[in-house]
Amino acid sequence: MPPFPADIETLRNRFHQHGQSHVFAHWNDLSPGQKAKLAEEAARIDLGELDRLVKSMVTSPDDAPPPFGELSPPGYIPLPRHGGSSEDWREARQRGEEALRAGKVAAFTVAGGQGTRLGFEGPKGSFPVTPVLGKCLFQVFAEKILVASQRYGKIIPWFIMTSPMNHQATTDFFDRHHFFGLSQNQVRFFPQGSMPAVDSKGHILMTAKDEIALSPDGHGGSLRALVRSGAIAEMEALGIDLISYFQVDNPMVRCIDPAFIGFHLLHDSEMTSKMVPKRSPDEKVGVFATLSGKLGVLEYSDLPPELATATDTDGQLLYRAGSIAIHLFSRDFAARAGGAETGTALPFHLAHKKVPHIGEDGMLVNPSEPNAHKFEMFVFDALPAAKNPILVETLREEEFSPVKNADGLDSPETCRADQLRLFAQWILRAGGKIPCDSSGIPEFPVEVSPFFGDDSDSFEKSWRDLPTPPRLEAGVVLGPQPFSAP
Ligand code: UTP
Repeated sequence: MPPFPADIETLRNRFHQHGQSHVFAHWNDLSPGQKAKLAEEAARIDLGELDRLVKSMVTSPDDAPPPFGELSPPGYIPLPRHGGSSEDWREARQRGEEALRAGKVAAFTVAGGQGTRLGFEGPKGSFPVTPVLGKCLFQVFAEKILVASQRYGKIIPWFIMTSPMNHQATTDFFDRHHFFGLSQNQVRFFPQGSMPAVDSKGHILMTAKDEIALSPDGHGGSLRALVRSGAIAEMEALGIDLISYFQVDNPMVRCIDPAFIGFHLLHDSEMTSKMVPKRSPDEKVGVFATLSGKLGVLEYSDLPPELATATDTDGQLLYRAGSIAIHLFSRDFAARAGGAETGTALPFHLAHKKVPHIGEDGMLVNPSEPNAHKFEMFVFDALPAAKNPILVETLREEEFSPVKNADGLDSPETCRADQLRLFAQWILRAGGKIPCDSSGIPEFPVEVSPFFGDDSDSFEKSWRDLPTPPRLEAGVVLGPQPFSAP
């Protein structure tokens, strides 16, 4: 229930007691609609939690960084082509397929980010990415989940985390596109929590007289949002034990990967993550590392340069296990890490950012230097608490090409090129012919529908089943396209 108007005095008093009464400084200038909006935003803030974070991280932080502990490179399960056992991979795949046929797996997309770097109006999942049809990210995932549901004969529920800022726009988008062929009750949306930005004294920043500077509480907020929204309870009721976690910005992800699931089960792991070997010591990706005996992720800036460049006897980087934000959670562990038992979820990290805000006079200030502290949780912080966490190798060129920036690295352009390269590889491996440049990009754009193939093996099977090899030319799409691209 929104606190306005009956509880507004209680709410204002609470803000006053926590030294944040300025949030309501312009209350008397606001229209009834603006008052309701501000009250609804204010009611979402956990002031006790904010006080603790401000004290420990902003106003009286412990200056000494926590001791690093003993650092060592973690082991991982390599692909057969990099020395892994084909037998192990076969067994894992079978085990994963069993779990899928038993209906134990849900897909989970975190889509609550603000996508500021891409600068696209609207939820990032509605961004068009495929090279010929321009299907959006959500459509690509929906089709992959539909294909997997058909393959394993069980409906795979899809949980999508939004944020309070993009929730309505996301659900409207799915409605407008008829859930891309999924049944409506296969998809569940829930918003994550948000946190206010504060100044150096810990005062909440206001972006307007009726608006608090709120932002989503990070992808790590997904675990407590799974708990608080009731999604975990719903999974339990559906018999779901495993949660396949991926980000909204990577159309190449295998949303449902039987071998990944199988390794998780065979190792009795609570959290399993995919890794790709880093391209170079200075590549800006987080790396997996064992810290005082616990697996975790170090941000690239936290890995000392002498360790970032260190190599093993084969000349490979010692700390090469790059994190690509693809994880598998056991449901019980996600609940625990999300604070179901303790009420306390993952730790918060602080980011120092420029946040436009109003001054005491109500006028907008556009800071030229970072002026604000923002609080965010990171999902990989759950790793050290997991039992038997493991890492499984995947190939970057097959599974990872995120759309982060408007141009340059990890942009729509690089993502399009990576998809084209992968489709061309599948065609060539299956025995087809397609002219490519020296970097493997085909000379004309083609696209492969997940209904035709969602990996090299399924592609090859569909290709072999064709009565005659298709004529490949610009704009060809292999496979049915049952839903029109948005
Ligand atoms: P990013 O770290 O790339 O952040 O998110 P972002 O907010 O999407 O983009 P920028 O930094 O503003 O440009 C990685 C993944 O985590 C999700 C994003 O939606 C994306 O899938 N995420 C991030 C959330 O779901 N919630 C958050 O609070 C932050």
